[in-house]
Amino acid sequence: MRSIPYDVTMSVNDIPIKGKRIFITGGAGFLGSTLAGRLVEQNEVVIYDDFRRNSIADKPFVNHKNLSMIKGDILEYPALRDAMRGSNIVIHCAAIAGIDTVIKSPTDTMRVNMVGTAKTLEAAQTLPGLERFLDFSTSEVFGQSAFRSGEKDTTQIGAVGEARWTYAVSKLAGEHLTKAYHQEFGTPTVTVRPFNIYGPGQVGDGALTSFIKQAVAGQEIQIHGEGNQIRAWCFVDDFIDGVMLALAHPKAVGESFNIGNARAVITIYGLAQTVVRVLGSKSKIRFVPKLGPDVELRVPSVEKAKQLFGFEAKVDLDEGIRLTAEYLCSLENNGMKVSVDGKRRLEIVGA
Ligand SMILES: NC(=O)c1ccc[n+]([C@@H]2O[C@H](COP(=O)([O-])OP(=O)(O)OC[C@H]3O[C@@H](n4cnc5c(N)ncnc54)[C@H](O)[C@@H]3O)[C@@H](O)[C@H]2O)c1
Repeated sequence: MRSIPYDVTMSVNDIPIKGKRIFITGGAGFLGSTLAGRLVEQNEVVIYDDFRRNSIADKPFVNHKNLSMIKGDILEYPALRDAMRGSNIVIHCAAIAGIDTVIKSPTDTMRVNMVGTAKTLEAAQTLPGLERFLDFSTSEVFGQSAFRSGEKDTTQIGAVGEARWTYAVSKLAGEHLTKAYHQEFGTPTVTVRPFNIYGPGQVGDGALTSFIKQAVAGQEIQIHGEGNQIRAWCFVDDFIDGVMLALAHPKAVGESFNIGNARAVITIYGLAQTVVRVLGSKSKIRFVPKLGPDVELRVPSVEKAKQLFGFEAKVDLDEGIRLTAEYLCSLENNGMKVSVDGKRRLEIVGA
């Protein structure tokens, strides 16, 4: 096994991942495309995605000479294995994610997330030059109530028959299988567990990005239930810093890491109020019935990533909300013209 050179004194911006062929399943999605942007200047990046979601279309580097895109399904093994040939690093982001989507298609969720991860690992195992396999798990593996959850805490799975929990089950199975490849075959795997990531480029049904879109458009913000569910919100750039460190650090091999912002903790109602305040929006907040079971409390401990490779989230909630709104407005969707004054407070023109 070859390894990635790493010096513990390096900052995240100097991580020496260069000259590699990096294969990203689900690389057209929110996190995969953001990661591709970090890697594309100094590596050959191959996106493998069935494009049911597409965030990369809006990225400035979409036509970069080092980037290629293959339309394919991770469930189709021969095509997946052939596309992966010659890769040094495999980053496995492809998944059915977002609770609304999961509830609509629980069988697809199980197949893509569980069987698809098995096929991706099997294909990676055929690579003679594999240096790292990065698996994306989820904070959902900690169940309905998780406070300062550490990596060694027991995972919790909800009742069978509730479609919502198929996501956590499928991702946890993928994480177990990833670990099993490391234990049995010495595959250089690492798993990250993202805790509520938001920011520019999110294309799924993330609550915070939806609130920001509604606030920018001056539309009503809907909260399901009482709004007293508690989450910790991590801005995407911070999360990608954590992923880059996990990709490069030699001691990360065979490990799982919580990556999130343990300080940006707030109730969903508090979050909606914060979005309205930060963006100076006129949106009203309305409470509507809950759609089904939900995670009531989820706050990570990120001590392991901090101790091992110095990970620390830096972007606070107010700043992250502003940056996300600015990005959305820069896309000038919905025909809106938006300007940002010296105080970086959005003025929505013609909303
Ligand atoms: N965003 C978060 O807060 C968060 C939290 C926990 C876990 N995750 C995990 O991180 C990873 C990336 O999440 P994201 O937010 O970027 O989601 P996303 O939906 O934006 O990206 C997933 C990508 O996978 C692709 N895909 C789906 N099925 C596929 C298939 N069968 N074959 C090929 N491509 C397929 C989609 O088209 C999409 O581009 C996922 O594994 C997800 O479970 C994300």
